[in-house]
Amino acid sequence: MTRETVFTYGAPALKFGPGAADEIGYDLQQYDARRVLVVTDPGVAATGHPDRVAEQIRSFGLEAVVADIAHVEPTDESLEAAIDFARSNGPWDAFVAVGGGSAIDTAKAVNLLTSNAGELMDYVNLPVGKGTAPAKPLKPFVAVPTTTGTGSESTTICVLDVLEQKVKTGISHPRLRPTLAVVDPRLTLTQPAEVTAAAGMDILCHALESYTARPYDSFEAKRPEQRVPYCGSNPIADMWSEKAMSLLAGSFRQAVRHGEDERARGEMALAATFAGLGFGNAGVHIPHANAYPIAGRVKNFHPAGYPEGEPMVPHGMAVALTAPEAFRFTFDASPDRHVRAAELLAPGAGRPDDLRDFLPGVLTELMRDVALPNGIGEVGYTEADVDDLVEGTMKQQRLLATAPREVSEEDAAAILRASLELW
Ligand SMILES: NC(=O)c1ccc[n+]([C@@H]2O[C@H](COP(=O)([O-])OP(=O)(O)OC[C@H]3O[C@@H](n4cnc5c(N)ncnc54)[C@H](O)[C@@H]3O)[C@@H](O)[C@H]2O)c1
Ligand SMILES: [Zn+2]
Repeated sequence: MTRETVFTYGAPALKFGPGAADEIGYDLQQYDARRVLVVTDPGVAATGHPDRVAEQIRSFGLEAVVADIAHVEPTDESLEAAIDFARSNGPWDAFVAVGGGSAIDTAKAVNLLTSNAGELMDYVNLPVGKGTAPAKPLKPFVAVPTTTGTGSESTTICVLDVLEQKVKTGISHPRLRPTLAVVDPRLTLTQPAEVTAAAGMDILCHALESYTARPYDSFEAKRPEQRVPYCGSNPIADMWSEKAMSLLAGSFRQAVRHGEDERARGEMALAATFAGLGFGNAGVHIPHANAYPIAGRVKNFHPAGYPEGEPMVPHGMAVALTAPEAFRFTFDASPDRHVRAAELLAPGAGRPDDLRDFLPGVLTELMRDVALPNGIGEVGYTEADVDDLVEGTMKQQRLLATAPREVSEEDAAAILRASLELW
C-alpha cells in the first residue's frame, strides 16, 4: 500500500467574543443579502436571542424573518417541514441559525434544499440515503451557537434521525459548512445546567476522539477527488484538541454549577469552537458511532433540562456514556496520547498503576461531577439490548474507519456491555 502523505484543513470565517452577535447585520450586508431567514428552535426563541439578532439585522435595512422551525435533535420529518416552510416563504438571500446543533443543522439542510433541487433523502449519506453531492453552491450562512457543544458552526455535517429506519445519520459535504461562525459566549449564559453538561461532554469527546483517531498518514494514499472532510488525526487538528482539553479542565465543572460565570462560559465557548475546528477535519470514532444507536433506539428516557414530550438521549450524553470504555479499548493504539489527554483534563492527577485506567478514571470522575447518568443502563438499556445496539454501531462504518483499532462486533459488544454501569 502507498501511504497517505497529505492532510487537509477547512474552517469557516470566525468572529468570537461577547458582543459578536451584535454585528451580524453588518456581516450580512457584506454578502449583499436582502431577505434573511433566522432559524431557531422554540426553546432558544423563548430566550429572546433570535429576536434580538433579527432586530439588529433589520437595523441595517435588511428583511429578517424568525422561524422556530428546528426540532431539538432533528429528524427527517422535522427537516422536511423546515424545508417546506423555507421553500414556500422564499426566496432567501442568506440564512442565520441561532441555537445549538439542532438549529444550526436544520439551517444547513434548509440552505442545501433551497439552493439545490431534489429531496432531503437524495443527499443523506449512503446507505440510508442516496449520498448525492449538491450540484450548486449554497447561500451565505451565518451560524450563531447558543450551546457550548457540537461545533456544528465549524463543520460540514448535518445530523438527523431517520425515523422509519430508527437510525441517526447525516449529510456531509464541504458546501454545508457555514460561511461565518459568530460565537458570542453571552448567548450561552441561559443554557440550562443539564444542557451545559451534555453539550460539554460532546466537546470533550470531539477533542478526545479526534486526538486519538487513526493518523492521517496510516491510510492508503487518496486521489484528490477521493479526499473526505475527515482525514484522521493530524498536527493541526491535534493542536486544537489539546487546547480544548485544557480549557475544559479549567471551566467545565464551573460552567455547569455556576452558569452565570462569564469567564467559565467564555472558556467553554472557546473549547467548543476549538474542538469543532479539530474534529471537523480529523473525525470522530467509537463513542460517536455508539451514540447513534443509543440515541436512535431510545425507549422512554426523559432528560431534565430538555423539552418534555418525546423520549430522548441527548447527543452529548449518548456520546459520553461509552467513552470511558471506548478509550480503554483504544489505549494500546497510542498509549502516550491517552496519558497526555488524561493529564490535560486533570492536571496534577496521580497516575494509576495501570495507565490503561487513567483516561477512563478521569472521564468517569468528570461525568459524576456534572451529573451525567451512570452508564447506558440508566438511560434504559439492559444486557438484552446489547446485540441490537451493536448492529446500530456497526452501521456507522464511516466513523469506525477513523478508529485507531479495527472494531469487531465482539469488541463493540464488550464496550457496550462494560458501559451498562460505569461506577
Ligand atoms: N453538525 C455537527 O457537526 C454536529 C456535531 C455534534 C452534534 N450535532 C447535533 O447537534 C444536536 C445537539 O445540539 P446541542 O447539543 O447544541 O443542543 P440542542 O441544539 O439540541 O439544544 C438543546 C436544548 O437546549 C436549549 N437551548 C440551547 N441553547 C440555549 C440557550 N442559550 N438558552 C436556553 N436554552 C437553550 C434548546 O432549546 C434545546 O431544548 C444533535 O442533533 C446532534 O446530533 C451536530
Ligand atoms: Zn458530537
